[in-house]
Amino acid sequence: MHYDEEKLIAYFSDAPDDIDMSQLDMARIPRHISCIMDGNGRWATARGLARTEGHKAGIVSLREVITAAVRLGVDVLSAYAFSTENWNRPKHEVNVLMHLFAKTFIDELPLLKRENVRVVFLGDISALPARTREVFEYGLAECRDHTGMVLALAVNYGGRAEIVRAARQLAMLVKDGSLAPEDIDEATVANHLFTAGLPDPELVIRTSGELRVSNYLLWQIAYAEFYITDTYWPDFSRWDLVRAILAFQGRDRRFGGLSTPAR
Ligand code: IPE
Ligand code: IPE
Ligand code: MG
Repeated sequence: MHYDEEKLIAYFSDAPDDIDMSQLDMARIPRHISCIMDGNGRWATARGLARTEGHKAGIVSLREVITAAVRLGVDVLSAYAFSTENWNRPKHEVNVLMHLFAKTFIDELPLLKRENVRVVFLGDISALPARTREVFEYGLAECRDHTGMVLALAVNYGGRAEIVRAARQLAMLVKDGSLAPEDIDEATVANHLFTAGLPDPELVIRTSGELRVSNYLLWQIAYAEFYITDTYWPDFSRWDLVRAILAFQGRDRRFGGLSTPAR
């Protein structure tokens, strides 16, 4: 996607010593970067704070990563905010998160407008508490006509639930005679996922060092490159995003074939 060189340089001035911005190949910025924003609770606990303070601090990181991704010309930034399994957390923590999601979406609307960011949700937002759902619907409508980066927020998202939902939708189409089973291919399935119309993530970043996918975008990450950092999400900055992209650009993506030039 298009990026503004002047704004890029301004946003990424004062690079830390380990980063040389001239090493970044702007022609090979991943089109879709996805973040599993993990480690908020541990970040807070390590400071003697309540876990929910970690979630609040995590919002600050997300804001910085959104701006950084826009500056870099990323087409799609997705972020895992709440999984279908996160309902198993204590009620208080779930309530705080739901309140925080609604508050943040309202607070950040000016940023999303200024940066022309279009928001989409991955996951079943109809099952969220009424207030959160209403704010999401209002915010979605406010950003509907934006033409810049897509911010895909995974809230009440589970990869398996998403595939089951797609299977159900396809079964209904077959049942009512508008789809023949032999016409179902990978594109048909992809078009019935929450990510329909979006490119698959090329780079998945997971913070806090966990080596698992936790039911995230199971279909879409088939060939994604993974970048795992021990940094907790609230400490994740624009520079960590650059480090992840530099690592990505150093990978040999073979997609089952041989590298070019073939060895
Ligand atoms: C990620 O941080 C945010 C959500 C899952 C909502 P965690 O809350 O999982 O933080 P840790 O993993 O317990 O440190
Ligand atoms: C994954 O983190 C979900 C989000 C980041 C929203 P979790 O903290 O829920 O994952 P597990 O429980 O460590 O696998
Ligand atoms: Mg976690």
